Amino acid sequence: MTAIVNQPHPSIDKASIQKLVTTFYGRAREDELIGPIFDRAVHDWDHHIAQITEFWAAIILKTGGYDGRPMAPHLKLNLKNEHFDRWISIFEQTAHEIFPEEAAIIFIDRAHRIANSFEMAIATQAGEIASTRHLRRPL
Ligand code: HEM
Repeated sequence: MTAIVNQPHPSIDKASIQKLVTTFYGRAREDELIGPIFDRAVHDWDHHIAQITEFWAAIILKTGGYDGRPMAPHLKLNLKNEHFDRWISIFEQTAHEIFPEEAAIIFIDRAHRIANSFEMAIATQAGEIASTRHLRRPL
C-alpha cells in the first residue's frame, strides 16, 4: 500500500482537478479566516484557478504545465499555523467529496507535505525552527 501516493488514479484527470480547485476556492474565499487573505492578494480569479489547476496537474499527472515558484508568495502573506490548518481542513473536505478515498489521499498527502515545507520556510525566514505539523496519513 505504500506506493499508492506515487501513482495516479483513474479518477484523476484535468477535469476532476479543475473541479477540486474550483470547489476549494469557492469555499476558501467564503471562509472568514482565510477568505480575506485571498481577497487581498488575488485579483484575477480565473487566472488563479487555472494556475492552481496546472500546479496540481503538474504534480499529480506530471503534465509539466506549471513552472512557477509556489513558495515565494506565501513568504509575504504573513501566514500563521491557524491559516494553514484552515486551508488544509477545507482542502481535505473537498478532496474527499470529489475523489474516491484512494485518490483523495494522494492530494491530501501532497498538500500536507507542501504545507509543512511552507511553514518551515516561513519559520526559517523569521529566524525560528519549525517541525512538521501536518502528518502524512497512514498508508
Ligand atoms: C494558509 C494557507 C494558504 C493561503 C492563505 C494561501 C494563499 C495564497 C495566495 C493569496 C496566493 C496568491 C499569491 C499572489 O498571487 O500574490 C497563493 C498562491 C499559490 N498557492 Fe497558496 N496559500 C496557502 C497554502 C497553500 C498550499 C498548502 C499550497 C499547495 C499545496 C498552495 C499553493 C499555491 C500555489 C501553487 C500558488 C501560485 C504561486 C505562483 O505560481 O504564483 N498554497 N496562495
